[in-house]
Amino acid sequence: MNIAIVTGSSGLVGGESVEFFTKKFDLVVGIDNNLRSYFFGADGSTLWNKNRLEEKYTNFKSYDTDIRDYVGLEKIFKEFGSDIKLIIHAAAQPSHDWAAKEPLTDFGVNATGTLNMLELTRLNCADAVFIFTSTNKVYGDTPNNLPLVELEKRWEIAEDHAFFAHGIDETMSIDQTKHSVFGASKVAADIMVQEYGKYFGIKTGVFRGGCLTGPNHSGAQLHGFLAYLMKCAISGTHYTIFGYEGKQVRDNIHSSDLVNMFWHYYQNPRMGEVYNAGGGRFANCSMLEAIEWCEKISGKKMSYNYSETNRIGDHIWYISNVNKFKLHYPTWNWQYNLEATLLEMHDKMNERMIVKDC
Ligand SMILES: NC(=O)c1ccc[n+]([C@@H]2O[C@H](COP(=O)([O-])OP(=O)(O)OC[C@H]3O[C@@H](n4cnc5c(N)ncnc54)[C@H](O)[C@@H]3O)[C@@H](O)[C@H]2O)c1
Repeated sequence: MNIAIVTGSSGLVGGESVEFFTKKFDLVVGIDNNLRSYFFGADGSTLWNKNRLEEKYTNFKSYDTDIRDYVGLEKIFKEFGSDIKLIIHAAAQPSHDWAAKEPLTDFGVNATGTLNMLELTRLNCADAVFIFTSTNKVYGDTPNNLPLVELEKRWEIAEDHAFFAHGIDETMSIDQTKHSVFGASKVAADIMVQEYGKYFGIKTGVFRGGCLTGPNHSGAQLHGFLAYLMKCAISGTHYTIFGYEGKQVRDNIHSSDLVNMFWHYYQNPRMGEVYNAGGGRFANCSMLEAIEWCEKISGKKMSYNYSETNRIGDHIWYISNVNKFKLHYPTWNWQYNLEATLLEMHDKMNERMIVKDC
């Protein structure tokens, strides 16, 4: 039997992975205890997605286990043993603002939870491929030291800089920078995932995400900015922009394009490899541009205000360079540009909000 384990299986990336890999594997085992609702309240609950996936896929089996619970996880790994061929580890406390409220919880989920998953993989299915969703926050606020230029609606990097054409690559240092508590717990996990590849010879891949997005994100004010913005646009909820004149730039990758990266990596894995993964120059926007897009697509004027104080450690300009991944996996490419992603988000979220299960 071929089995894939997906942690965070009710979330954006985990849920997309379930959709994709139920078509490729005999069984997909999900692990998600809806901790997102503890982090972000009702907006963040992912229960609706779990119910949707369970109804849709008969070869999807879901466990409410907490990834901090080693003994609970061990039961799952022992049940499926060497039939486990793939682990996608996407469960996390994902917000740097929230992490400062409870650093112990944040570190327990992001760092220790990841170590639990790695160690159980090593002990029970050492031949499996292990994919970890890291983050561009491992680079801390170093991107803010790049030479940036203020344009009418966005910050941009100076045209003569090496990162101008394709964005920030994996050569950027992750050391000597302000990561935020969240960034630091993800660094711990990121390095440990690399180590299980380099030291123990497990096929581990680290994907350092820019903004990961898609219609099935349970967008909340503290996490999932495009999904939350679109939700506000549809429902008329007020939105607050924090700092940088609203010109901060993010690259955005649809979760389906990211999961397709995972599929390419799974078929030809490397040990302890690290990739930046985002929308790159192909799909990115500033906050102000994102608002314009949401207004255009929803046909509604958004209600928003501007607060001078930026989020601590927030990037002013971040665009991922995915050329290393493309070099290793030349047949992969993006399918969703920003407009396609936002159109899909609008239509699906609108539908969900009408039936009120999101
Ligand atoms: N969304 C982004 O913009 C973004 C950007 C960079 C990196 N990432 C990383 O990608 C991964 C997935 O992000 P996402 O946007 O899909 O997040 P998400 O919050 O939508 O999904 C994560 C899921 O994990 C679950 N979870 C959290 N803690 C858990 C625990 N202790 N035990 C079991 N389940 C738990 C949550 O309930 C949630 O359903 C995370 O590792 C995140 O740090 C996300």
